[in-house]
Amino acid sequence: MALERTLSIIKPDAVSKNVIGEIYARFEKNGLSVVAAKMMQLSQEQAEGFYAEHKERPFFNDLVSFMTSGPVMVQALEGDNAIAKNRELMGATDPQKADAGTIRADYATSVDANAVHGSDAPESASREIAFFFEDSELCPRG
Ligand code: PPS
Repeated sequence: MALERTLSIIKPDAVSKNVIGEIYARFEKNGLSVVAAKMMQLSQEQAEGFYAEHKERPFFNDLVSFMTSGPVMVQALEGDNAIAKNRELMGATDPQKADAGTIRADYATSVDANAVHGSDAPESASREIAFFFEDSELCPRG
């Protein structure tokens, strides 16, 4: 199995529900280790930059507005097949379609307030980790 890293964000809705620790426990119980983390209040510019690939989509302004509505917890996770593993733990984008027992089924309320973000591919994982963290801030767990 491939040791990978992925970028995870606990979104403002989940931060305000005080479930950061519960979400971290799911990562750790499933072989994902935190190798860098920071709590941030995203600026409009940061949110627009992070979601630039969705700029033309009709929900872009709502997404940026939601992601700047309160603090987020940003972390790089490391583990075997971390990208797919994290997406499996997150569940579908729309919590109504998320499998029972996933983070979104348990903590998300809607397709925008959907608790967590996770990189969807190795290229986006590298780009997204570099968006928030310097190489020197990553602490390999091996
Ligand atoms: S994916 O997997 O990237 O293709 O998912 P996608 O459905 O395209 O959604 C991309 C991100 O946009 C968010 N989203 C929305 N925000 C606000 N309103 C609406 N209607 C909406 N639909 C999708 C969705 O939560 C995804 O955010 P991230 O942070 O990437 O999970």
